[in-house]
Amino acid sequence: MIRHELATCVLLGGMAVAGCERVEQVGDDVAVETASLRCVPRDGATILGVAPNGELWLSTASGTRVLDLAGGDRTIAASLGDATHVLPWDASTASFVAGDALWSWRDGAREVVALPESVGAVRDLCGAPDDEHGVFVATDRGLFERDGRWWWQWSSGGAPLPPGQRVFSLDGACGGRDDTVWFEADDGELWQVSAASAAPVADARELTDLVGRRGGVAARFGSTLRLGPDWRDVELAGGEVVAMSGTYRRLWVATTAGMYSRTGAWSRIDGLPTTPPATIAAHAADGAWLAYDDELCHATIAPPILVRGLRPFERRRERTVELELAFVDHTETTAIVALDGAEVASAEIADGVARLPELALGNTGWHALSVRTGDHERLLDYYLLPGASRSWAADIEPLFQTYCAGGACHGPAPGGNRPDLSTYEGWQARYAQIRSRLLAGTMPPTDPRPTAAELDAILEWIEGGRLP
Ligand code: HEM
Repeated sequence: MIRHELATCVLLGGMAVAGCERVEQVGDDVAVETASLRCVPRDGATILGVAPNGELWLSTASGTRVLDLAGGDRTIAASLGDATHVLPWDASTASFVAGDALWSWRDGAREVVALPESVGAVRDLCGAPDDEHGVFVATDRGLFERDGRWWWQWSSGGAPLPPGQRVFSLDGACGGRDDTVWFEADDGELWQVSAASAAPVADARELTDLVGRRGGVAARFGSTLRLGPDWRDVELAGGEVVAMSGTYRRLWVATTAGMYSRTGAWSRIDGLPTTPPATIAAHAADGAWLAYDDELCHATIAPPILVRGLRPFERRRERTVELELAFVDHTETTAIVALDGAEVASAEIADGVARLPELALGNTGWHALSVRTGDHERLLDYYLLPGASRSWAADIEPLFQTYCAGGACHGPAPGGNRPDLSTYEGWQARYAQIRSRLLAGTMPPTDPRPTAAELDAILEWIEGGRLP
């Protein structure tokens, strides 16, 4: 139920327009889901991070410990004692920030990720830095995005974004299908960043955790939970919020008296210790690690389905993939794989594993992979980048000449506040504005305008790595 604090509220046609504190109340009359729990001794370990398939990385006195959903519990040689932010990808690979630099842990060794000096001191990351696309770092100079061979600084209204503290990850990636990245600046502002706009949207000084979600965002400010985009407070019958974590599809919220979860609707999670966990680390295989004083417990509503070979919200160019599917505590012997709702393959499950050596992933754009066995399903979204490699010189420069050139427009050496788009560098520096102005149809301001095919060519060049 949504209730408005009506004291100073101005309603227009039932819509809250001013001075309204929107509050969503979640009672104990919501659906109940029962979790199955598996616990191991904590032995003083601290959670570093969790991988999309549930591998939990822990910092211990003797090094780095990794727990997995099949009951694996081992110490790896990774020396992450100095790491401030760790993004694990599986049981042996991770990206992390240490000493103002970006690092990868892979094949038993740590390796610095070379960044242009102009990026500055790294504070936080989202996405896998080895990927060419969909990687952001928050630094003492602002927000930077890796795209192809380039790291680009994000700006708003012509000014670079302020120095940053955190950039929030979603299942390890930087954002979901809505391409929104959440960035916390040094000055205490929370920025919502997307191709269309970049703007501060909330005061982040009390912000503890934030999770981008399907159609919105969930943020914990101390003991208060807020859901965006309208930033309404959520009052849970269990009382104050003590921990929160989530994925694109499920939010986990621990209160002083009970655990709640939100997928499309709220539910209460039963089957857990009455004491709330101090920390929650949720992962994309629809489970969560709960940290209690003496033990670490993995809670799951349904037996996990693990997907190896493709990561949630991965942006990739390759159109086929070798997939390994692992089924923890399942009894079925067949898995059905579908893309965007259409069945594309079925695979035999042997010893809890099924393999698809060469799965075709479809065409350019967003896709949803579904792995179903019995009544259980795992969904994973990914983005296929355009295959065709277009170059500025061959594909874009002629379009510039036809549609944007000239002194009165975009140069060379245009007047006024018009950007010079007569060079590759000019397009490189403004590709996001070019994309949004072309898609908005506000550029060119007059005829002639590019045809649909020409627009596609420009978008393919932009998303295909913007080759010179
Ligand atoms: C496909 C061709 C064109 C592209 C890609 C293009 C792109 C852009 C972009 C990205 C901006 C905004 C810059 C910013 O936000 O910082 C802009 C602004 C502008 N463009 Fe274009 N443009 C094109 C054609 C033209 C033409 C033909 C004219 C002149 C008739 C023109 C006149 C202007 C003017 C006056 C502005 C500044 C005012 C505004 O932002 O609307 N453009 N253009």
